[in-house]
Amino acid sequence: MNKDLVRIIENPVIFQNLCTMRDKNTDSQGVRLATRKITRVLLYEAAKNLPLIEKEIETPIKTTTFKTIKEDINIIISPILRAGLIFTDEAIDILPQACIRHIGMYRDEKTLKPVWYYNKVPMEAPNPENFYIYITDPMLATGNSLIEAIRLYADKKIPMANIKCICIMAAPEGIENIQREFPEVEIITAAVDEGINEKGYIVPGMGDAGDRIFNT
Ligand code: URA
Repeated sequence: MNKDLVRIIENPVIFQNLCTMRDKNTDSQGVRLATRKITRVLLYEAAKNLPLIEKEIETPIKTTTFKTIKEDINIIISPILRAGLIFTDEAIDILPQACIRHIGMYRDEKTLKPVWYYNKVPMEAPNPENFYIYITDPMLATGNSLIEAIRLYADKKIPMANIKCICIMAAPEGIENIQREFPEVEIITAAVDEGINEKGYIVPGMGDAGDRIFNT
């Protein structure tokens, strides 16, 4: 594993909320609240790669230039359905200029390979260097869905440094799979767990994130 491109965001508040998410006795509302609190921190971390400009601002006291996010760029949040959706409310609060391009994949239970059912990505990217992509999925298990999602953007020639995967729990096997295919894509996560079991679940993980978040 190339640790330089795995950013683990550790903080006491994240630890506390990870415990809440993982606990099998936490109900769906509790899981959603804890998850959202973590997504907010991870999104702020991920956004550190956005380009800045100096902008003139008139305060009630004085006109001065201040740093802000460059305006003519395209920020895309791509949640992998279903569980990746938990990032979207926080993401559009924090980055209101972003667009949300959903990616629908489910995992074939036998092969553990992703099966497509929805793709909102087929957009033009005439100036690919102006695109900043955040692919969200709380559980990086085998990494197969994230690889497919990264490929959609890589095919549009978007620079690898502008594509980030934002997860909450990651398995070392999944990280290695992604790094084998896309060695320059950074993974941002709150935890790296022990591994995956024969059913493709992260151990110890939190079980099925979609079921736990959406109460199914
Ligand atoms: N998806 C989940 O929801 N949980 C896992 O442990 C792995 C993939």
